[in-house]
Amino acid sequence: MKKHPHRAETKAVRGGTDLGKKNGPLATPIYQTSTFEVADNEQQLRATPTDMFYTRYGNPTVTVAEKAIAELEGTERALVFASGMCAITTPILALLKAGDHIVAQRDIYGGATKFLGQWLPKLGIETTFVDTTDYEQHEGAIRPNTRLLYVESPTNPMLRVIDLRRVAAIAKKHGLITMIDSTFATPINCRPAEFGIDLVMHSGTKFFAGHSDLICGAIAGRGELLEKIHSTRTTLGGAMDPHAAWLLLRGIKTVAVRVQRQNESALLIAQYLSRHAKVRRVFYPFLEGHPQRALAMEQMSGGGGVLSFEVEGSGEDARRVSEALSLFTLAPSLGGVDSLVCLPALTSHAMIPAEHRQKTGITDQLIRLSVGIEHVDDLIADLEHGLTVVSSALSTQHSAIST
Ligand SMILES: Cc1ncc(COP(=O)(O)O)c(C=O)c1O
Repeated sequence: MKKHPHRAETKAVRGGTDLGKKNGPLATPIYQTSTFEVADNEQQLRATPTDMFYTRYGNPTVTVAEKAIAELEGTERALVFASGMCAITTPILALLKAGDHIVAQRDIYGGATKFLGQWLPKLGIETTFVDTTDYEQHEGAIRPNTRLLYVESPTNPMLRVIDLRRVAAIAKKHGLITMIDSTFATPINCRPAEFGIDLVMHSGTKFFAGHSDLICGAIAGRGELLEKIHSTRTTLGGAMDPHAAWLLLRGIKTVAVRVQRQNESALLIAQYLSRHAKVRRVFYPFLEGHPQRALAMEQMSGGGGVLSFEVEGSGEDARRVSEALSLFTLAPSLGGVDSLVCLPALTSHAMIPAEHRQKTGITDQLIRLSVGIEHVDDLIADLEHGLTVVSSALSTQHSAIST
């Protein structure tokens, strides 16, 4: 009988595990070991390419987490790393060399901007940053030595949505590898490999882990690319600790229900904020008026758990609002069960030049919310109270969103 393919919710709980296995532990054991004993040198040679040799090369707990992510993303293989940044840097260092060129959209995570714009040039790899949703600019920036098209969707923190099919088509035409930071989307809302994207990257610290208790990253894609990345991970050393892999697996089991709740609450909060007199603009992919709403609704099954908005006032007002909230904890990061608030100009994008920040629309008035799984009415009440501290003259007209 043909096996029915499981849905994302099922894969999240059962992914990576061997369902045919009998009498095994339901929770994946933590192989908290740096190395593995062998009987003789012959066996050692056979073990070297496996996950039973040395934990920087691989580890059985880590392998289960990798299988779970590959299943969720619908790719041949996935690899996990010590951080999301490692999952950005290691693949790029594995696949590019001095003299190569990257085209990247302008609004991507600040750490990625810094790596591409300030660090890679030291190795002779240049990046051209292009307007995020201007595909003619993407194509126009491609040179004979371009190897990689790097994108993020939805973007941090402006929530712009990229046309994945279009990006994949441009890359195919020019023989480029595509890599996407899909942290904000999660495979529950969008699986970029289905649209032809080669490498799907995540800061697993966020929605996968889901509880703000570990740092990790992941990349998913075709076996042949992942083999090279695995070899580079072994050399650069950004492997994941087995205990962190176990926590990651525990997070993945509930990612579908968490993200579905976060989708619902974030949309309600975006709608509430878009009607608020002290809010100038709201950025959320599924909100009426978002410039890529139709595309978002076609590519994604939910708008995600992150939104941002500008207060009607000064940067000082935005600071005061973020500090007046109590359920939204003032902290960087996102994607966990606890709601968080931050000012991107002071946190996720503080390390990039002010000019680059301005071009992507990150103003001092911009506040980013990561919506957790608390009751949405309590979260809205917290915002209602927090926004009372905005002192400036208010406009009664406010636009829903724009970007
Ligand atoms: C969209 C996005 N990508 C990548 C990263 C980097 O991940 P990590 O902090 O796990 O290294 C972050 C961190 O905030 C992020 O928000």
